[in-house]
Amino acid sequence: MNEHDSLLSLAAAVSAPAYVRHPRLLAWVRDVAALTRPDRIVWCDGSDDEYNRLCTEMVASGTMKRLNPARRPNSFWAASDPSDVARVEDRTFICSAREEDAGPTNNWVAPDEMRKSMNALFDGCMRGRTMYVVPFSMGPLGSHIAHVGIELSDSPYVVVNMNLMTRMGRAVYDVLGGDGVFVPCIHSVGMPLAAGQADVPWPCNKDQKYIVHYPESREIWSYGSGYGGNALLGKKCFALRIASVMGRDQGWLAEHMLILDVTSPAGEKTYVAAAFPSACGKTNFAMLIPPAGFEGWQVSTIGDDIAWIKPHDDGRFYAINPEAGYFGVAPGTSDESNPNAMRMLHANVIFTNVALTDDGDVWWEGMTREPPAHLTDWQGQSWTPGCGRKAAHPNARFTVSSIQCPSLDPHWDSPDGVPIGAFIFGGRRSDTLPLVVEASSWEEGVYKAATMGSETTAAAAGKVGEVRRDPFAMLPFCGYHVGDYFDHWLKMGKAVAQPPRIFNVNWFRTDENGKFAWPGFGQNMRVLQWVVERCHGRGHATATPLGLEPGYEDLNWSGFDFPPDRFAQVMNVDYTLWRQELAAHDQLFAKLGAKRPAALAYERTQLGSKLGL
Ligand code: OXD
Ligand code: MN
Repeated sequence: MNEHDSLLSLAAAVSAPAYVRHPRLLAWVRDVAALTRPDRIVWCDGSDDEYNRLCTEMVASGTMKRLNPARRPNSFWAASDPSDVARVEDRTFICSAREEDAGPTNNWVAPDEMRKSMNALFDGCMRGRTMYVVPFSMGPLGSHIAHVGIELSDSPYVVVNMNLMTRMGRAVYDVLGGDGVFVPCIHSVGMPLAAGQADVPWPCNKDQKYIVHYPESREIWSYGSGYGGNALLGKKCFALRIASVMGRDQGWLAEHMLILDVTSPAGEKTYVAAAFPSACGKTNFAMLIPPAGFEGWQVSTIGDDIAWIKPHDDGRFYAINPEAGYFGVAPGTSDESNPNAMRMLHANVIFTNVALTDDGDVWWEGMTREPPAHLTDWQGQSWTPGCGRKAAHPNARFTVSSIQCPSLDPHWDSPDGVPIGAFIFGGRRSDTLPLVVEASSWEEGVYKAATMGSETTAAAAGKVGEVRRDPFAMLPFCGYHVGDYFDHWLKMGKAVAQPPRIFNVNWFRTDENGKFAWPGFGQNMRVLQWVVERCHGRGHATATPLGLEPGYEDLNWSGFDFPPDRFAQVMNVDYTLWRQELAAHDQLFAKLGAKRPAALAYERTQLGSKLGL
């Protein structure tokens, strides 16, 4: 058989459309179908027709409800199985050839052993279902910073979410041509249907979940969950875990960072990338509206969760948002906390695990000060205020395309990315960490990011409210040894002539009554302006043991009454707490053994002696 005939027969075997001309991809689809045995294969083209058809089918099957078009046009509500509501970090595996390459912060299983388990689990796992072939680009199509993935999934809910979250569809095959590189992503809800067996609204596997990454061959296999980052494989699995390995090997950075632009009244633009752990308000910060006193200032949004950052010939880092949509935490989102998000959610949204109002709209805790008198909660039960249950799950989400964001930056889709002026790192800490501090060198900044801690939230299954070390907000997302990752960051500071300045922020300090001592949200602009001024060599700072800090008079308080004693409270450094903090840093570094970079050991010594601890 000549090459052309063999391509045709491969395509026919998997009923591929003529525009797919990639023999390796066709053979892979054939092999996965032979293993998983779906009833049919559907090649997704990313069109509106396809999106509408799948949503209509899911309404008919009970997976989604159409919201009242008069209240929330073209929007849907879905509720997951109560066993499938968050990322499953304890079921997430980095299966590198050598255990030491996964490092102490990842679960590791030898690839051969994991492949045996996966082959057994995936054997016949799509019986009775459709396997969708979902082509997607992480980043603008054809951008030199972007990369392509193909997800094979037996979940139509995944397909429509991928449609909103990525550049998904037929044009991806033009980028791939006959031989382009793609990351193969295989996903199954892990619930095959026997002949005649009725489906459930949210199929998943209650007992077995596996989110598996093979970093060397850059493959992803996900089994048993249909929710968020477990199932939308372009997001955490590809754009962070696999991409962080690609970045290490190819000299770039894949980070858990939002990207925003600050434009001053004089028109000066400064792009900032900021890392915060899950559910610490990244979406709110990315869509910040400057408060009274900041007339003429503008903040615009490039991304709210992930940044891919590459060194550029002009001596700066350029970043893209590999995603094309937001999978944001709904609870807490309101006209007060994030008016841009509320406007963005007016139509064309998929809501998951929020509550339903009696007139067919959605509600979640924090959306309004007064809850409605009656709701249907995320589990379909009647709900009234004071019934003792949350109406929405704390990790309830909205999925919406970026183009609906009112503060979207005009360069959000630029193939070259945007030049980064500052990196900000922030955890959720009720004490210990001050409102803002600038690192006095790249190495000190890497130390601060490496030792970040944060009180845990509902974005991951497990305990809520404990401080855990979350280096660079990448703890659940770094696809290789975290010590090598620190080393990579140290090296990347030398890859550009003008590395961005690095800042630490903490919006979450509480007062003696346990109430937030800093108002946050739009008022974070006061800190952001100082950060931007520092990047342009203007704002004033004073050297302290922790780094470079603004004094009260160095921030712009116009339009806001925040007295100096309250500022002193949010900047306060408690030496007793810092003794514990340094001990926690040491525990983290002890886990790295020989992979603890010498530069970070030096920074630790310096910090201890500056604090006198
Ligand atoms: C997310 C997360 O969904 O970080 O973005 O958990
Ligand atoms: Mn995230």
